[in-house]
Amino acid sequence: MVESAALLTVDPYSRAFQRDPFSTYAALRAQAPVYQVPGAEFHIVSSMALIREVLADPTTYANSVTRGRRTPPPPEVADEVERIRAQGVPYVPTLNGSDPPDHARMRRLVSRAFTPRALEWMDPVVTQIAVELVELLPRAGTFDFIDTLARPLPIYAICRILGLPPGLRDDIARWSDAATASLAAAPMDPQRWIQTEEATLDYQRAILAVIAERRSAPGDDVLSLLVQPDETGETLSDAELAWFVRELLVAGNETTTKLLADLVLRMDDRPELWRLLRDRPGRAADIVEEGLRLASPVHGMFRRVTRDTVLGGVPLERDATLFLSFLSANRDEDHFDDADALDIDRPNTRSHLSFGRGIHVCLGASLARKEATICLVELARVGMLRVEKGLPLEFAPTFLLRGVTGLQVRIDGLVGEG
Ligand code: HEM
Repeated sequence: MVESAALLTVDPYSRAFQRDPFSTYAALRAQAPVYQVPGAEFHIVSSMALIREVLADPTTYANSVTRGRRTPPPPEVADEVERIRAQGVPYVPTLNGSDPPDHARMRRLVSRAFTPRALEWMDPVVTQIAVELVELLPRAGTFDFIDTLARPLPIYAICRILGLPPGLRDDIARWSDAATASLAAAPMDPQRWIQTEEATLDYQRAILAVIAERRSAPGDDVLSLLVQPDETGETLSDAELAWFVRELLVAGNETTTKLLADLVLRMDDRPELWRLLRDRPGRAADIVEEGLRLASPVHGMFRRVTRDTVLGGVPLERDATLFLSFLSANRDEDHFDDADALDIDRPNTRSHLSFGRGIHVCLGASLARKEATICLVELARVGMLRVEKGLPLEFAPTFLLRGVTGLQVRIDGLVGEG
């Protein structure tokens, strides 16, 4: 296994890999499911079975990762970055970056706001947002699906959920971009570093003002709930809340945008799915679930090895870093038959890892499913989306998230009843 692995060279930072990692992953799963990336400080884990093994053992495989996840600022702007950071609230690890027992405490405090029951009130809100955005789509000619629908939908929804004023929607888009800019990306331009740090500071000032407001005058939103003590009397500090809300923006916005765009791209040559959506909207959830599996908007996540161990026959030293490729696990031919095909009747679709699994399983999974399902149903009411042919697809320059950055489409009526 190790000898043949030496024949592979994988560069996760390359644009070619970000665009099309699938054949590389098929080779990795077959030859080296735990693969040391040449020149990088981490191994890629690519099989469903091994990733599940890691996710089931958060003691050996911790989320408090120190390498690989974020690119550090270049030396010429490092001092300036520090100076800007010093003006904000000190960094507090939030859910994704923490381990038990801190993780359990925070997850308990925030999950009360994200249970499917707690989010029931969101159904009409998300529907209204989707209806309004779909209403605005041009009925003739082409438009960018990401700008018009896939990007605003989750931003408008999280704004409403958190009770942030609609006037902050554009800022939220800017803050989310700043928060993800250095995630598992190739080194960023020094000026962009300063911009993203300033955007983060700007964000902190705005959110701390809203938090203070909610403490004195609570509303019906999630932030108002989160500033309250829970039933044991425990509360989140302002710094924890500020970083947690930022985590929600990072975790929920681009991911949902990428899922929606991937669904539309994938359904381009499947008019029967658009007809199904229109005639049996109850099946939307199955389309979304299979779409989640294939899209894997969170390409993968990092873990830190906390003790010397062996994974899939490969010895790992304490403090080694792993990149768990959910995207690869979701295409694992040992787990899913005909894994590359979109099959909405697949019996085991829901065993995909697009939302992770175990103690860090996505907190916003119900919300993301809800947003995508409602969005597809509302779109199918006006027709089907056709992707403009012949335009190159650009992918985001990171291997932590995967998805197109633009998608030109037009609306076609639903014709040709079968
Ligand atoms: C299609 C959309 C989404 C995808 C694919 C996705 C995927 C994921 C994945 C894979 C994880 C696990 C990370 C790990 O194991 O290290 C995760 C965690 C998380 N997600 Fe999502 N997510 C989505 C939408 C959302 C939304 C809408 C929210 C909230 C508004 C959200 C909030 C979170 C949070 C807070 C965590 C951290 C949980 C923890 O560490 O305990 N996500 N998500």
